[in-house]
Amino acid sequence: RRVAILLSGGGSNMVALARSMTGDHPARPVLVMANSADAGGLEKAAAMGIETGFVDHRPFAGDRGAFEEALHERLSQAAPDILCLAGFMRVLTEGFVARWQGRMLNIHPSLLPKYRGLHTHARALEAGDAEHGCTVHEVTPALDDGPILGQARVPVQPGDTPEGLAARVLEMEHRLYPAVLRRFAAGRREPVLLP
Ligand code: GRF
Repeated sequence: RRVAILLSGGGSNMVALARSMTGDHPARPVLVMANSADAGGLEKAAAMGIETGFVDHRPFAGDRGAFEEALHERLSQAAPDILCLAGFMRVLTEGFVARWQGRMLNIHPSLLPKYRGLHTHARALEAGDAEHGCTVHEVTPALDDGPILGQARVPVQPGDTPEGLAARVLEMEHRLYPAVLRRFAAGRREPVLLP
């Protein structure tokens, strides 16, 4: 299976996913795409020998459809079977999702359905939750919704800051996402639950 990974930032999840696709793994990374030329993950992907691309979203300001046309055009050149959103910070329209639905995954740093959207760690602390975590789900038109393919739980510790909690969640993301992708690429859908 051919996997394209979409990112906006440093790409630590992309690195974890790419490193996992070796040996008898049913998938290989064929493209790493960003929505800006200076996403740190692009350099990391290139250093790993993975093809990279980007579509800067800013020239398309306001015309989300045109941005997604350009994205789809570049993606299609790599002919991926599966898209993994990994720290991709652009909301995708129903039109784009419809083309990839059932073949597009996302990782979100909360125990969905709790805390869809942004600032999830601060919100979990604000709520006094005893545990937090991350979720991999199939992407559907509704934001951070869709069938759950995996979850990893992280205990909240006394004195946790959003940054400290985020760092612990990110470490679990790097374990959860590869485990889910391996199962998904093998055609299996039962959720991965960690620890
Ligand atoms: C992190 O906040 C992570 O929780 C979320 O995307 C952000 C960037 O991750 N999934 P990455 O290092 O670019 O993979």
